[in-house]
Amino acid sequence: MNTPTLPRPRVLSGMRPTGALHLGHYHGALKNWVQLQATHDCFFFVADWHALTTHYEHREDLEKNVYDMVVDWLAAGVDPERATLFIQSRMPEHAELFTLLAMSTPSSWLERIPSYKAQVEENKELATFGFLGYPLLQAADILIYKAAFVPVGEDQTAHVEVPREVARRFNRVYDKPVFPEPQTLLTETSRLPGLDGRKMSKSYGNSIAMRDEPAVVEEKIRTMPTDPQRVRRSDPGDPARCPVWPLHQLYTDELTRYSLEQGCKTAGIGCLDCKQPLIEAIQKEQAPWRERANEYLANPKQVHWIVEVGAERARAVARKTLREVRAAMGLNY
Ligand code: TRP
Ligand code: SF4
Repeated sequence: MNTPTLPRPRVLSGMRPTGALHLGHYHGALKNWVQLQATHDCFFFVADWHALTTHYEHREDLEKNVYDMVVDWLAAGVDPERATLFIQSRMPEHAELFTLLAMSTPSSWLERIPSYKAQVEENKELATFGFLGYPLLQAADILIYKAAFVPVGEDQTAHVEVPREVARRFNRVYDKPVFPEPQTLLTETSRLPGLDGRKMSKSYGNSIAMRDEPAVVEEKIRTMPTDPQRVRRSDPGDPARCPVWPLHQLYTDELTRYSLEQGCKTAGIGCLDCKQPLIEAIQKEQAPWRERANEYLANPKQVHWIVEVGAERARAVARKTLREVRAAMGLNY
């Protein structure tokens, strides 16, 4: 017997277009997106306006960064048949909702965001209206799709608080339950350290790109620093002091890890021996990504088409919400 299928709860998430993604992006967010699309109605978008809130003068690479990122989403297995993928700047509906929400949102809610003052003090170029309004734009991104869940990293939970407050206030002021309050979806993600042990980040130059060639991966891992107390091959080391080890914790099974640890502590193996299984594990993980990415890179029209179809799907939902918002605000004339 057929059981009726319930509508899948909607998830919304965005990423700034930083260009080609690295393993930190994959393990910190993308892997999770790929899983969520099986169980949720996922809307994933390129937050290109958000990139402009902090880098409004960087127009040269914007387009390339947008499409390189979309290619990496697809390469990772985000499936445009199951998830809705689009680019924020193709959705003026977000800007309309942002404007309408701005009417009833106290500016103090934006000014008191903990990181706001510090960031502006550090960088005077951020003293713009756009940067101040960034959390409200993010609220519009989420509320326009009535998203039930927003998967965000641990450091971004505060950014779902504003949308919740904005939703609550709107519903109260206009006396209509237009917006559900979105929930954060704290998902299992792994924080991946970079080649130097700091957080993996393109700006630190310590990252492995999802699409790095196998030879590049090999070179990057082989030249990674190890336990600083293991100067010579004959010195015993300790994985606890070694920046390579957290990568093993993500990529290497427990049994192999155990023997590598013994080998390190007894100087039974050299660091290159220890790094070899890691190199192979990363190359193996990347192979299907590179294959899929190459297909899309050879066919850029298809990528454009995917985000156009996504934008149209998203627009149908966004328009419906806007009709309710306009009606609630007395704008349905
Ligand atoms: N702030 C997110 C980032 O910097 C991008 C983003 C914009 C977002 N709007 C969003 C994420 C809405 C989740 C939900 O990557
Ligand atoms: Fe690090 Fe492995 Fe070398 Fe030990 S053997 S110092 S864990 S790379």
